[in-house]
Amino acid sequence: MGSISRLSNSSPTPLIFPKCVRVCQNRTCRKQGAAKVLTAFEALPTPEVTVTGSSCLGQCGNGPMVLVLPDMVWYSRVLPTEVPLVVEQHLRGGQRVTKMLYYRFHPQG
Ligand code: FES
Repeated sequence: MGSISRLSNSSPTPLIFPKCVRVCQNRTCRKQGAAKVLTAFEALPTPEVTVTGSSCLGQCGNGPMVLVLPDMVWYSRVLPTEVPLVVEQHLRGGQRVTKMLYYRFHPQG
């Protein structure tokens, strides 16, 4: 009984999903420089953020595509030179980089 009342009085534990950056490494994005984008992210590790290459994200021709989870923020035509901005502003600062957002999923930017 004691443990049941203790459970019912406890506040719910918030679900926190770790941030993950997925950089498409499929054929079309690779032709557009996705390997260098992935390397640029890996060169700037951020605590508690995982960076992985991914299979096709279904947006071929707009790459290199980068998807930040769980935020569901999509960046398109990402250049290696833009990666430090994404890392600093989005991953570390919590603010999406408006000018790099993928227009199909973020039409208002
Ligand atoms: S190849 Fe990258 S989105 Fe399809």
